[in-house]
Amino acid sequence: MDKAAILVLGGYGSAGSVITRLLLAKTAVKHVIIAGRRAQKAQELSQSLAAEFGEERVSPLGVDADDEAGLRQALAQVDLVIVCLAYRDDQAEIMLRAVLDSGIHYIDLTPDAQKQQLFTSRADELAARSCIVLTEAGIIPGCPSVLIRLAAREFDRVTVVTLASLYRDRDMAMDGARDLITHARQQPAAVYEQGRWQQTSLRALRRIDFGDRFGRQLGAPVFLDELHALPERYQIESLYLYQGSLNPVADGVLLLWRLLAFLPTDQLVSPMARLLAWSIRRFTRPPFGIMQRITAQGIKNGRSQQVTITLMQADMYRATAIPVVVAARQILDGVITEPGPQFMGHAVQPQPFITEMERLGIKVKVNHE
Ligand SMILES: NC(=O)c1ccc[n+]([C@@H]2O[C@H](COP(=O)([O-])OP(=O)(O)OC[C@H]3O[C@@H](n4cnc5c(N)ncnc54)[C@H](OP(=O)(O)O)[C@@H]3O)[C@@H](O)[C@H]2O)c1
Repeated sequence: MDKAAILVLGGYGSAGSVITRLLLAKTAVKHVIIAGRRAQKAQELSQSLAAEFGEERVSPLGVDADDEAGLRQALAQVDLVIVCLAYRDDQAEIMLRAVLDSGIHYIDLTPDAQKQQLFTSRADELAARSCIVLTEAGIIPGCPSVLIRLAAREFDRVTVVTLASLYRDRDMAMDGARDLITHARQQPAAVYEQGRWQQTSLRALRRIDFGDRFGRQLGAPVFLDELHALPERYQIESLYLYQGSLNPVADGVLLLWRLLAFLPTDQLVSPMARLLAWSIRRFTRPPFGIMQRITAQGIKNGRSQQVTITLMQADMYRATAIPVVVAARQILDGVITEPGPQFMGHAVQPQPFITEMERLGIKVKVNHE
């Protein structure tokens, strides 16, 4: 990693700025380029980080994800690009072509079904260019698959896996809100039971223990693309992911959006994302932070067992940035070697990944019963 250069696109945004700082503070990466459309903002962050970590390690760049020529020039300077924005229009296609052109590695944080399909459809070309492409990196999406892979090792047969996730932060940025709105329509809630994923409804709300910080409260079933293949891969009989409340008003905005699914999506995504971001800023109350827990039940040596792994962090964007930085390290240090597109949660080496996340500030608690 110490010879590598990384470009963080959206590098002064909410997630990007924490990723940039962590890369400089906690890894030996040679150089980080902070990129986005506003060169002035990139310049300001770069200057303050240069004062702390050295001018030779960080620089700013004005880059627009819509500008293919500019993007190609920017990617030609680095070994890895970390994309910290929600793709709009044909930006994912532009990025894919630029990555193929430069032959570098790639990480994104965005849960976007169309982008996923696009990258998967070009898997052979990416592999031929030796590009390691990790999609949906971060805490959620990202870490649920890592927890499942870790827990599955503890059993000969896994019966029930229940994931609980809750994040609470007033500073939900525009691109994050945009992804929540898009995802709510692209991926209806689903649970895995009786050998298949089944769509479910709000009637499937359950009271969930979200740990000491957030207590017991209602959790709504949600689905992530990264979960789809895992029940078959690890022979899990039932799999559930429950998401805790953002706040009652923001939950209401998301519910309304789901109920109005017959309305056209394209023109309404931006105003709904603004409404959601506003409702999160205005109505979210402490305690803040993030909690993610897996409770896995199964059979080991003929006996029933249960393992629980809990991840906690007081700051949502730090919790987002840590897994991204650890995944970047696993690519650049040669721990992940398979080229082509994969979900971050499927590609990383789970045990070293969790150990490194703990070192960087995620609290990890493991319990066997
Ligand atoms: N997996 C996870 O755990 C997790 C957690 C949190 C967020 N996320 C995802 O991370 C992404 C970023 O979220 P965020 O909260 O950091 O959003 P944000 O604060 O709005 O940051 C977006 C950044 O992208 C830049 N940007 C937007 N359009 C651009 C373009 N066309 N060209 C170049 N730069 C552009 C923005 O700067 P300019 O507008 O100045 O260009 C800004 O710096 C979202 O997809 C979100 O869903 C994932």
